[in-house]
Amino acid sequence: MLSEERNRIMTQVGPGTPMGDYLRRYWMPIAGAAEFEEFDVKAVRLMGENLTLYKDKSGTFGLVDRHCPHRRADLSYGFVEEKGIRCNYHGWLMDENGKCIEQPYEDTANPKNPLRDKCKITAYPVKELSGLLWAYMGPLPAPELPVYEAFTWKNGFCEVVTSDIPCNWLQCQENSIDPVHFEWMHDNWSIRQKGQEKYAPKHLKVAFDEFEEGFVYKRVREGQPEDSAMWTVGRVFLWPLGFYLGEHFEWRIPVDDENTLSITWFYCRVPSERDGYVQERIPHWHSPITGPDGRWITTHVINQDIVAWVGQGRIGDRTKELLGASDKGIAMIRNRFFEEMEAVKAGKDPKGIIRDPEKAKLVKLPIAERKPFLDGKPMREYLTHPYYSKRMKDFPWNAGQPERVRKEFCEAMGIDRDGNFLALKEMASAK
Ligand code: FES
Ligand SMILES: [Fe+2]
Repeated sequence: MLSEERNRIMTQVGPGTPMGDYLRRYWMPIAGAAEFEEFDVKAVRLMGENLTLYKDKSGTFGLVDRHCPHRRADLSYGFVEEKGIRCNYHGWLMDENGKCIEQPYEDTANPKNPLRDKCKITAYPVKELSGLLWAYMGPLPAPELPVYEAFTWKNGFCEVVTSDIPCNWLQCQENSIDPVHFEWMHDNWSIRQKGQEKYAPKHLKVAFDEFEEGFVYKRVREGQPEDSAMWTVGRVFLWPLGFYLGEHFEWRIPVDDENTLSITWFYCRVPSERDGYVQERIPHWHSPITGPDGRWITTHVINQDIVAWVGQGRIGDRTKELLGASDKGIAMIRNRFFEEMEAVKAGKDPKGIIRDPEKAKLVKLPIAERKPFLDGKPMREYLTHPYYSKRMKDFPWNAGQPERVRKEFCEAMGIDRDGNFLALKEMASAK
């Protein structure tokens, strides 16, 4: 339980709020780079700020104020030039540093134009890494953008998926330190949705540890030995806005106090017969969260999570909750957020910030099963593998994977539309 005041401090993200100032110290993924194959300017709202994200003709990304510094027209309706974005109203041109580099009529009427040098708009650094666009909205100098180990893996098919979630970021992110919900929300609820009556193995114990990049949660379930990686390694609450599960990351990026961008990155290892596969570009797609009946979609893992998050209300009322033994991790991260907000106020760098460029080049996170990602497995093992056998048939995480992405995935894995390995099929028919 939190007091009303502490709940407000935890959930407000606008400029000048303690949590807003705190979260601005980190690079955040804000879009898929492949989105910019379809358009070159996009209106975005992040941390309560209305902004314009663009890619100019030279390939540079910019994240600037939504409003033009002249008479406040909407820059997301502007157009890009070789360098920068031009307002469609009177043609003022802004670069990725927020500098106004042209004011066509003013430059003509007064070649010395003193107005141009005075003109500057909000602009935040943007970087592209592993199919994601990352923004840094805090005070300069910006820390290093961490290159997580999974981003360096070869022989895989990656994809970036986004969804718009109508609730506060914190209830989404508290889900990253909540092991027991797997048993109920993903296992037992899915079993019921299939019309079956049985129950999945129970959680017998859970544990939580802190490390440099975040927290891990560990679990033992019925029938699971204690030397299982789910107890010896666990899963990662990636500080402050991420969740890492080995083959995928999930981030919950605050749009404002009542909305969150869910942005996820997935890697799927090709079977070892397909080694040498190189993915030319990482596709992006947007996943819906409601069905034709207007109800939340409940069929896919992350959609199920979303039902829990939005069900807690636009901003979860933590004055009314009742925490138990399964929520120890929730209490730990809340306490840590408060300590961290204080540390930033005192002028310290917060948890997980990397300033050493060498260190940022490869950031290894705890991972329950690293070897298969590096070495691969043959097609025959995929057929009976509890995860890969399903993964070849369908994308289990978010609803609505478009056919174009499924096609690219099938080509990478060497499977047909139904998930059958083509090489194995040919071998079988040749017998
Ligand atoms: S309002 Fe943008 S150039 Fe005039
Ligand atoms: Fe979940």
